[in-house]
Amino acid sequence: MSAKLNTLPDRLLDWYAVSARDLPWRMGPAARATGERPDPYRVWLAEIMLQQTTVPHGARYFLAFTERWPDVGALAEAKDEEVMAAWAGLGYYARARNLLKCARQVQALGGFPKTAKELIKLPGIGPYTAGAVAALAFGERAAAVDGNVERVFSRLLALSGPWDKAKARICREVSALVPADRPAEFAEALMDLGATICAPKRPNCLICPVSEFCKAREEGVPERYPVKTKKKPKPHRTGHVFLLVDGDHILLERRPDKGLLGGMLGLPGSDWREGELGEMTGAPARGDWRALGEVRHVFTHFSLGLTVWQGTLDGDRPDGVWTQIEAVDGLPSVFAKAFALLERG
Ligand code: ADE
Repeated sequence: MSAKLNTLPDRLLDWYAVSARDLPWRMGPAARATGERPDPYRVWLAEIMLQQTTVPHGARYFLAFTERWPDVGALAEAKDEEVMAAWAGLGYYARARNLLKCARQVQALGGFPKTAKELIKLPGIGPYTAGAVAALAFGERAAAVDGNVERVFSRLLALSGPWDKAKARICREVSALVPADRPAEFAEALMDLGATICAPKRPNCLICPVSEFCKAREEGVPERYPVKTKKKPKPHRTGHVFLLVDGDHILLERRPDKGLLGGMLGLPGSDWREGELGEMTGAPARGDWRALGEVRHVFTHFSLGLTVWQGTLDGDRPDGVWTQIEAVDGLPSVFAKAFALLERG
């Protein structure tokens, strides 16, 4: 029989006290024990960045952002294009637009609200982020349940029914377990457990501090959990993208605010259509286009293959953001991959 779940927090917190990861946005357990609290701005920024991003990748951006915009007021006053360019490579660009909106609202409010109930009203803050910021920055007894915590608890409880129901049950169980005196460390300990021990593919049960609570371990195949129905394969889209060069400048374009990669700089090109690559369309000027190769990128809802063409302008410059080739920066990954194929004369 696995041990009673209500004694799990103590066990987990003992482990966290000696095993906490040292992360640039984190206030470690020793500092917390002295009553110190982390800066809500740093906590919030990290949580937004770490959605859909690995810790090492997110950490680079976190350090660059906090160096350039050390507090929420500085970020609120930043130019949209500067923030979008600094976000390039992190993906999911709606997050960057909401980040700025949120910073401006927080600045207008005079600071971050201190409860999950109020935080969730801000742009880009969902139930997970609201819980995480409330617990980590303000010590509210709030749960922060993301995909990692769901995986950990689907194993602890060996949940195999419909995934929606399992998730609701996990939220209830985690909420009930959050200790009133140490909600932040509890949330952080679960993050660390999910990242370092209860990993998706090869959970390391031998060193797990809470293995005695785990029903999946008792069954013998913890990696079977979480049990989710198979995802449909992503559709594949194709298109053309153009590197139009005039002297030492190249043509970029600002993408419309709404839609995929909204508000980011990009390269001109065709629509992206499902199915086989059609003939070359979408060129920004007539010319002698040479195919340089193909780049691939995977978005949330589809994969993409773009054929990259290079041409030299012969005639008037079409409208767009003409940029010195040496100064090109802030392209989202898919366009950065295409730009990397540019052959310099
Ligand atoms: N994943 C999401 N938020 C995190 C955080 N604050 N620390 C480490 N990993 C995380």
